[in-house]
Amino acid sequence: MATGSNGDIPPLSTVSTRARHTIQLKDFLTPYAVTSGMNPYHPKDNPKGYINMATAVNRLMEEELETRLRKADAMQYDRQFQHYYQLFGTFQFRMALADFLSRHLCPGRTLSTENIVVLNGVASCLDALGHAICDPGDVLLTPTPVYTRIFSDFCERALVDVQPIITTQEKNQENLSFTYQPRDIENRIQELKAEGKNVKGIILVHPQNPLGDFYSKSFLLDVLQVCARHKLHVIVDEIYALSIFRDEESFVSFLALEPISPEPEKIHFVWGMTKDFGLAGFRAGVIHSTNQEVVNCLKKLSTYQCTASIVHHACAALLNDKEWCDDFFLPTNRRKLRDSYEKARSFLEEMGIEVREAKSGFFVWINLQPFLNEVTKEEELALFEDFFKQRLFVVPGSILYCANPGWFRLIFCVHPQDLEAGLEKLRSVIEVRRK
Ligand SMILES: Cc1ncc(COP(=O)(O)O)c(C=O)c1O
Repeated sequence: MATGSNGDIPPLSTVSTRARHTIQLKDFLTPYAVTSGMNPYHPKDNPKGYINMATAVNRLMEEELETRLRKADAMQYDRQFQHYYQLFGTFQFRMALADFLSRHLCPGRTLSTENIVVLNGVASCLDALGHAICDPGDVLLTPTPVYTRIFSDFCERALVDVQPIITTQEKNQENLSFTYQPRDIENRIQELKAEGKNVKGIILVHPQNPLGDFYSKSFLLDVLQVCARHKLHVIVDEIYALSIFRDEESFVSFLALEPISPEPEKIHFVWGMTKDFGLAGFRAGVIHSTNQEVVNCLKKLSTYQCTASIVHHACAALLNDKEWCDDFFLPTNRRKLRDSYEKARSFLEEMGIEVREAKSGFFVWINLQPFLNEVTKEEELALFEDFFKQRLFVVPGSILYCANPGWFRLIFCVHPQDLEAGLEKLRSVIEVRRK
């Protein structure tokens, strides 16, 4: 069974084998998210509550978003919302997306609404792509450490076997850890083929979660060559593409690479309103693919995985408002992300903690190996529990399939008062261990 399985599926049950497989998959973080969510920190009202620096949410632009969404063109009620609509995305929303994504990620290229499908969140898009591209047991590769649900999103229903391309903390010539080369993909494909596996594609999270880095254009072109040689699909999750706070000009989206790639119909781009617009609750995920078979399949699946048309309407209003989006919201968001990241980073570095340099996303990726009794996964989880006892919720790297124990992911774009209090909690746990 695919990575993420807890082991054997019990034979006696009232549900299907498939359902038992879904139930058995590991979900380490949810119980902690529930506990911390029921008792959230507030400096005055609940100073003993939990600070959640684990869930990838950007709280820096909440007020700006609320103000814009309360305007009549976005959230005002209309009788048309009571009725059926094009479940794979209203024409109005797909038009807005085509224009918005072209403007920001592939200037000069006009995206077609025909190649765009909207589903209920990016996780749902990944699940649907797994269904459309793979048969049960087929393999998709992904470099690790990575967003932990990549394994479950493709595996829980589509039964895809997601296999890691393992990277380590060993630094490359540019002094960066957790990197790999296109030849590592080639080697992993050969290894899996030798085991008799059917390798169908690769999933790239770009910008990367948890590293907060993104790939160079030349690297990506080499990856596309490897994929074309092995006839692989390329699924790209660009959910953080507009949350880049450094070196923004060197980011190249797959939407811009598609026209020069050897097999454009094998590239499936995914984005959503969840991260770059902080609208996780809207459940609006987007797929762009020029592969008509894939698009036709996704359109059918939208019957089961669609979002209410009122959400399509509100999102279209935001994306079409160029002045608000392009001149105000996105640049302000980037500035706030940069400031918050730098604040967290300097705090941690002053404590003598190694921080992996980031340019994008919501994460600081830190090495806490010096504070473990032994560099093992068990000790990493013991430190995680120490943090949680102090009411600080962060993500241990092993949950993100990090090969080296002792790395942790912290979300830095929490409310500013939570950031300060959270970092202080982290300091108090580390200081005890230093002694
Ligand atoms: C890389 C990545 N992809 C997908 C998701 C899930 O997004 P959604 O909430 O739209 O399903 C996340 C959320 O953390 C993510 O980090």
